[in-house]
Amino acid sequence: MLLKSMSASQYRSLRSIRMELDDVNVFIGANGVGKTNLYRALQLVQAAVQGNFAFEIAAEGGMAQTLWAGPRRKHEAARVAFAAEVEDETTGMSFEYRIAAGLRPPIDAAGFVFEPQVKEETLSVDTGRGPVVVMERKGPGIFVRDERGRMRAFGEKALVSETAISLLAHEASAPEVGAFCRFVSQWRFFHGFRTDADSPLRRPCLAVTSPLLDEDGGNLAAVFATVAVNRGEMPEIDAIVAEALDGAALVVQEPEGEAFLRLSLPEFPHRVFDAREFSDGQLRFLALTAALMSYRLPPLVALNEPEASLHPSMLDPLADLIAQASLRSQIWVVTHSEILAEALVKRCGIEARRVIRRDGATWIEGMRLTGTFDDGDDG
Ligand SMILES: Nc1ncnc2c1ncn2[C@@H]1O[C@H](COP(=O)(O)OP(=O)(O)OP(=O)(O)O)[C@@H](O)[C@H]1O
Ligand SMILES: [Mg+2]
Repeated sequence: MLLKSMSASQYRSLRSIRMELDDVNVFIGANGVGKTNLYRALQLVQAAVQGNFAFEIAAEGGMAQTLWAGPRRKHEAARVAFAAEVEDETTGMSFEYRIAAGLRPPIDAAGFVFEPQVKEETLSVDTGRGPVVVMERKGPGIFVRDERGRMRAFGEKALVSETAISLLAHEASAPEVGAFCRFVSQWRFFHGFRTDADSPLRRPCLAVTSPLLDEDGGNLAAVFATVAVNRGEMPEIDAIVAEALDGAALVVQEPEGEAFLRLSLPEFPHRVFDAREFSDGQLRFLALTAALMSYRLPPLVALNEPEASLHPSMLDPLADLIAQASLRSQIWVVTHSEILAEALVKRCGIEARRVIRRDGATWIEGMRLTGTFDDGDDG
């Protein structure tokens, strides 16, 4: 499945934006234009699916803070809204989820003041004959279309800050909701990796089969061990590590209780180096390698400023990593680096999207109101 489009309105600097997406999406722009807000909008769709929507909004400072701070049109309610449209290329079926949330009314005691109050939620499915709503929320009531095509009330009501979709994610009676939720739940967001002395990347991790890298990188050593043990070898990973880290080689052994991240460096053939001894840049590059070359890949990998603390000489190998991953996964990259953006444009045959601000609101150069782009090379 592929994320075809996303939209957001009144969320921070995203006044009202809808954007069609490609297999590889690269966003570049100055500080504060709203690149991370766009990335966060996707994370919030995932949070809605996983039942963490209220938590994530509260953690950002609360509903009032996240609402667009600029002027609203007359009669326009104070609502943040997000939508994601997903297509299953094998069946041609598409799904669209929409959620809108607002502030707690002053006299309503249900729900806490920081929390979003979910006002609307729908999931529609289009099998080629136009969209059909399969889940709808009306206040606390949740309605699901049954196999005979009728909307039926679901047995449970949603609390004001709960999302209906998360309550239905595992309901056998709502298979389309389940399919959408499984897809969105698998997205992975990597926003910097800690490299300080106490970083989880520097510690051995439990030796548990790890087909994917955790978002904090905590199972990094186990991710490499999983590839090595299950494939017997990992020539692509070895080649990229040697290229980026001056001939260094990962030393991966079949783990017992714990998996260790170790490197052998050509200048010091008599001993191996432990993750606590790697430089910040070396460690971060290895984490990106694991994120992008793990045994499996998530259907969508989003990287926020992956170039952070990498020397420009590492950007070509990083672009190689991303381009290889793009054969298995949809990619979303936010970057400040013109070199990285250019390298990705060359490898993936795409246009980088330039994020700008217009009247305080986030926009993308060359984008029409419909969310399509003028460059016309993206089908
Ligand atoms: N509630 C809000 N209403 C309007 N604008 C907001 C709101 N909250 C935050 N912003 C704006 O969003 C901007 C931050 O956006 P974001 O973090 O996405 O920037 P960025 O492009 O990722 O920048 P950087 O490259 O520095 O990481 C800030 O300039 C801030 O003014
Ligand atoms: Mg940012």
